[in-house]
Amino acid sequence: MSVDLTTTYLGLELKNPLVASSTPMTGTLDGVRRLEEAGIGAIVLPSVFEEEIEHEAMEMQRLMERGTDSFAESLSGYFPEFEDYATRTESYLRHITEAREAVTIPVIGSLNGTTNGGWVNYAKRIEDAGADALELNVYLIPTDPETVGAEIEQRYLDLVWEVNEQVSIPVAVKVGPYFSSLPNMAVRLTEAGADAIVLFNRFYQPDIDLVELEVEPRVDLSSSQDLLLPLRWVALLTGRVDADFAVTSGVHTAADVIKSLLVGADVAMMASALLKNGAGHAATVLAEMEAWLDEHEYASVDQLRGSMAVGTAPNPDAFVRANYMKMLVTYTNPWV
Ligand SMILES: Cc1cc2nc3c(=O)[nH]c(=O)nc-3n(C[C@H](O)[C@H](O)[C@H](O)COP(=O)(O)O)c2cc1C
Repeated sequence: MSVDLTTTYLGLELKNPLVASSTPMTGTLDGVRRLEEAGIGAIVLPSVFEEEIEHEAMEMQRLMERGTDSFAESLSGYFPEFEDYATRTESYLRHITEAREAVTIPVIGSLNGTTNGGWVNYAKRIEDAGADALELNVYLIPTDPETVGAEIEQRYLDLVWEVNEQVSIPVAVKVGPYFSSLPNMAVRLTEAGADAIVLFNRFYQPDIDLVELEVEPRVDLSSSQDLLLPLRWVALLTGRVDADFAVTSGVHTAADVIKSLLVGADVAMMASALLKNGAGHAATVLAEMEAWLDEHEYASVDQLRGSMAVGTAPNPDAFVRANYMKMLVTYTNPWV
């Protein structure tokens, strides 16, 4: 029996729900082609950062005015290779156009920023370059103790609204898990224009190098254990928030994709597993997923999707609380 894996995400027709998340792998044409060959449903390109776009604009102005650029110099200590950025924003647009021509699967552009401002115009350029949709990654870590949560949330909403104003393609918003009320935030993000919510941004945590006494930025690839957080939240949000959902963080195996679908995700995004195993890993995951669905007599992914969502259950608060208590109370102390 053949299983229907087709999926709709952001209004786009995908041949299956496995999406290559934003990483350097989707930043090359070779990577994009290999992912399509492995059967991936769609790709998200690496992000262009607000700082890159603003720097390009500043550089342009400086060249035109031939004035001093003490601000750019003061920033350069924080943002190494800043001089390359002006060209990167242009080559990014070229990459979108070339990727769009090279493959038939949907190509999703990615913007990464935190503030509402002129740089947001770049969203329109991503659309004009041929992207099928846009993912907006809001990577915002509050550092000022005077700033209250409501102000931070408003920044997200203003940014989503502004980006949405620029484009007519669908917009997905990638956020972290740290909101006091994620369900309320998810509803307001959709009201501000988000067509999909991508859960969750991983907040890379720098370590400290004790030899050099320096901050040591590092990227730790995820494991399937990291899936549990987005799984819980998509399970609670599905059916209550009028948006598509993408799971990102911890999608490594066919089982991880199936679990994501069961809680209601429209797509499961994969980054670390592809970086670790190569683009071909997508083909293995898809074959295993199809075999599982077949074995369990599912005719399509639509039939499976959301069957373990809990947000629309009669009393989700009590459900969450009961599970928590059960887990703690039934744990047996191994030392007695
Ligand atoms: C090396 C690397 C580069 C990444 N670059 C981006 C990026 O440019 N924009 C973005 O939104 N996410 C970026 N991510 C995050 C991934 O898209 C993904 O959301 C995250 O790694 C969690 O998924 P995973 O558990 O499958 O790795 C990057 C991740 C890695 C490991």
